[in-house]
Formats: sequence, C-alpha cells, structure tokens
Amino acid sequence: SRNEFKQMFEAHALASNFYNHLLLNTVEGEEALQYLEKRGFTRDSIEKYEIGWSLDNSSALADLLKRKGFDLKDMERAGLCIMKDDGTGFFDRFRGRIMFPLQDDNGAVIAFSGRTLSDSKQEAKYLNSPETPIFEKSRILYNFHNARLNVRKTGKVILFEGFMDTISANRADILNSVAVMGTSLSDTHLLKLKRIAKEVIICCDGDNAGWEAAKRFAVMAIKKGMDVQIALLPEKMDPDDYISEYGADAFRNKIIGNPHPYMSFIMAYAKRSKNLSNQNDVLQFIHEVLEELTERTSPVERDMYIRMISDETGISKDAINQQFLKMI
Ligand code: GTP
Ligand code: MN
Ligand code: MN
Ligand code: MN
Ligand code: MN
Repeated sequence: SRNEFKQMFEAHALASNFYNHLLLNTVEGEEALQYLEKRGFTRDSIEKYEIGWSLDNSSALADLLKRKGFDLKDMERAGLCIMKDDGTGFFDRFRGRIMFPLQDDNGAVIAFSGRTLSDSKQEAKYLNSPETPIFEKSRILYNFHNARLNVRKTGKVILFEGFMDTISANRADILNSVAVMGTSLSDTHLLKLKRIAKEVIICCDGDNAGWEAAKRFAVMAIKKGMDVQIALLPEKMDPDDYISEYGADAFRNKIIGNPHPYMSFIMAYAKRSKNLSNQNDVLQFIHEVLEELTERTSPVERDMYIRMISDETGISKDAINQQFLKMI
C-alpha cells in the first residue's frame, strides 16, 4: 500500500543516516573509517554516498526504528531487521558491515549493500537487502541518480560491475558512471541507460568473471542498439585497483580514454587464454574470432579483422579468408 511504501522509504532514510553517524562519529565506527581511508575514500565521498557502519551483534537499528514508532514486522519485510528464532524480538539484518545505501532514481535510499571488513571468505563479502516493494534489483543501477545529468550531457555512460568502482571513478572526476550489483545486467537497466545515452563504455574486472560479464553486457547493449565499446584492464585488476595503483589520470586517459570496439575486444578475449606460439591455440584463436566475424556484415570490418588475425598469427590473409568463407 501507499502507506507501506512511505514507511519503507522513511525507515531507509533513517537507517542510512544512523549508519553514517555510527561510522563518522563513534568509537565503534573507527576501524571501518580507517579501512575506508586506507582504501582511498575521502570525507567527500563518504558524505556524498552516505556510507555508514552497522554495529556488530546488534539490534541498535531495530531499537531505533521501534522508538520511532515503526512496526518491526514491517521492517523485517523492508529487509532491515530479522525476527529472533524464539520470536521474542528483532535483531538487525546488517551487523558489523560497511554500509552502502542504494538509491532509486530520485536519490531516495531503498536498500543497502553491506561489506565485511575482512576478506576472510568465512562470510559473503557483500550482503544485500532482499527484494522488497521498493527495491527491484533489475531496475536499480548504483549511482544512476547522481550520474544522470552528466550522462545526458556527455551522451555517454560508463558501466562497471562493482559499486566500489563507481565511487573510485568519481574520485577520478568521472561523473558519468553507474554500476550493476555484480554480474547481472537486465534489459530494464539497459533501457534506462539508452534513454539518456547513445554510447556505453563497459569496464569490467580483469578476471574471468569480468571478461565474461563484459562480453555478455556488450552483446546485450548492442542488441539494444547502443554504441558499445569495452575498456580493458590489466589482468587481475578492477577499476578501483587500477586507480589506487596508477592514479586517476592514467585511468581516465589509458583505460576509459582508450576503449575497444566489440571485435577488437573479442580478439583480445580470444587471445587472453591462449599461447599463439602453440598450433592448437592458433587454430582455436582463429576459429573464435571468425565465429564472431560471421555475425558482422560490414565488408570493411571483415577485411580489417582478417588482416589483424593474420598479423597476430602469421597465417596468410588468404587462408584466413578462405576459412571464413567456409564458415558463412
Ligand atoms: P571490493 O573487493 O570491496 O573492491 O569490491 P568489488 O567491487 O571489487 O567487488 P567484486 O569485484 O568482487 O564484485 C563486484 C560486485 O559483485 C560487487 O559490487 C557486489 O555488488 C557483487 N558481489 C561481490 N561479492 C558478493 C557477495 O559475496 N555477495 C553478493 N550478494 N554480491 C557480491
Ligand atoms: Mn541526492
Ligand atoms: Mn571481480
Ligand atoms: Mn571488483
Ligand atoms: Mn575491487
């Protein structure tokens, strides 16, 4: 109901404020604050993104919500607290995590993602709010509300797979980026982006999951009729790692400023896992690239990439061309 929506929005605004206060102004938040500072977070970005801290083993938020007159059963549905097994009360859903508010297109907080302080792998690195009436994962892109104007102005959007990357990009003065929450991109996400930008630069992590996601995102965005390019990172690095290691200028100029067209990305992807001094790898490489090339209709593109395959492998253009003609 309308009232239920309103309460969920109010509770999230209150929670976000509370978490942010715990991070910035309490002893309990100090370790988290130090962690963020070590990762290069500035006060500005902590404030801009209203980043916070949820207390360990706590029902502090549940208690606050109760004091403010919220029904904790409703708050459980909102994804903010959980009823104890014995039914005697509620504890907080997010405990001992750095809190990243997720906002809707108007900037209202509608959910959270909470990060552990350690990378111990004993628990999930990130814990997200469940889907609720106000939080549909397939609609929400991190930073959409902040980036929208800039995306419109530049006609270009940069798409990351992690919201940490968007926050870092902001530090690099890249204001037109959004992030999916992990590796799922929906048609709804893309339609939202397409309405405000013709061009998308996909920039995923330099690991297996990232390359795979980049290809999937690119194919989806091309199908939607967007101009797609893919920015590539060194092995094992994500955008945030790159900015920390090499700085904002390098990221802006060398990575985002030098994106690859789809076919060039495909060549890099096909090459990534291969050793082109090995004959089998060469055959496999040629096959993978030509398979993608059969989907392309431009004769100029065909000629260009067949030439590039030839340069890369030492196989004659003529032989590659014959192979190609057999495949179409
Ligand atoms: P950092 O390790 O803090 O730098 O985060 P990251 O942005 O590099 O995360 P990563 O590349 O591992 O994952 C990208 C995105 O996937 C994150 O922003 C999350 O939205 C999502 N993700 C990663 N790990 C988990 C997890 O354990 N659980 C859930 N639900 N989502 C995750
Ligand atoms: Mn705002
Ligand atoms: Mn990754
Ligand atoms: Mn990452
Ligand atoms: Mn990262």
